[in-house]
Amino acid sequence: MKLLVIISGSVAAFKTLMFIRLARAAGHEVRAILTEGGARFVTREAVAALTGGPVHHDLWAAEESIGHIRLARWPERIVVAPASANMLARMAHGLTTDLASTVLLASRAPVLVAPAMNPAMWEHPATQANVAMLRGRGVGFAGPIEGAMAEPESGAGRFIEPADLLAALTEARPGAGAGAGAGAGALAGRHALVTSGPTHEPIDPVRYIANRSSGRQGHAIATALAALGARVTLVSGPVSVADPAGVRVQRVETAREMLAACEAALPADIFVAAAAVADWRVAAEATQKMKKEPGAGAPVLNMALNPDILASLSRHAARPRLVVGFAAETEQVVGHAQAKLARKGCDWVIANDVSGDVMGGLENRVHLVTAQGVEDWPRLPKEEVASRIAARIAKEFCP
Ligand code: C5P
Repeated sequence: MKLLVIISGSVAAFKTLMFIRLARAAGHEVRAILTEGGARFVTREAVAALTGGPVHHDLWAAEESIGHIRLARWPERIVVAPASANMLARMAHGLTTDLASTVLLASRAPVLVAPAMNPAMWEHPATQANVAMLRGRGVGFAGPIEGAMAEPESGAGRFIEPADLLAALTEARPGAGAGAGAGAGALAGRHALVTSGPTHEPIDPVRYIANRSSGRQGHAIATALAALGARVTLVSGPVSVADPAGVRVQRVETAREMLAACEAALPADIFVAAAAVADWRVAAEATQKMKKEPGAGAPVLNMALNPDILASLSRHAARPRLVVGFAAETEQVVGHAQAKLARKGCDWVIANDVSGDVMGGLENRVHLVTAQGVEDWPRLPKEEVASRIAARIAKEFCP
């Protein structure tokens, strides 16, 4: 395959040299553009030696200014690695301030992006909005991963390992996110209902029972389904993550409100229950703030069972054609998920081990459990897990 590699400014650029080597060894023909920032970290000579050809860098250089459209037409795929925060921002907003961004705007080739930056920059709402925008246009993402950074700091923002980037390139299909297998409009005309976040179950007017769910995974699934053309209703408990663009969001507090909102949103073709619904609520919520009386000891809370939204919709008269549940487990992850599949009456269960840093974290390692068997997926950013789930759902509807 004809591969154009765009190297932007990050200390991780040295790993792209290894990626180029692996890509050529795998039979790809590689050309490279080195941005001004990229050239601060690796030399043109090193890139030229590894690609075996000229390294393009200056939009205004005589040959390149005439040839940037030709260069944009040449590749079958473009890999932006490492992609800095600045590069993502320019791509998202269609800026053409240098050769790399101009070629990206002028090319129709599918793009795979491997970001690398400081965790605070990656998590910044501006970067995340740019990422969501790019994903929505079908740009694939490989990483970033969590781990140690060049600075004495760790978190999400680390460049994916070169061999994994090559694997992502092989897996990703044009027109969908990395790891996805369906085209951009594959879910057009379908209604997808997604639950996300925790629920808050009041004890009294100021206190509640909740859990650690951030809503990141459920919101990412809503985004990914919308990117494949579905009309999406997202019923979300209280979260601080931003509402996904192009999705109807209905905010609720309690499990009972979540069930009512879901039932009101039917009919739907797809139901994905990603919310971490509180299993119990306080049977009789106090109407006034409970007082801490001296010498009275701690109150005993009488609990009641909450409705099971997933089980209710699985058995609903207007059951969505495909019902997907989650199973957050701390042990016997797959075994519990298989039992849940039968007990809740859903079609698939996405099982994840939450004994580590998954709840509230940026990555997830899941197993897709269906009546046909179990698929183990690698540890991936939650957005990437979402793209894969959406692509699998699309395959059910457009095999
Ligand atoms: O029973 P458990 O909470 O482990 O099941 C998890 C799955 O069921 C998730 O998909 C979750 O969204 C869903 N669920 C629900 N309503 C509940 C409890 C869980 O929809 N009351």
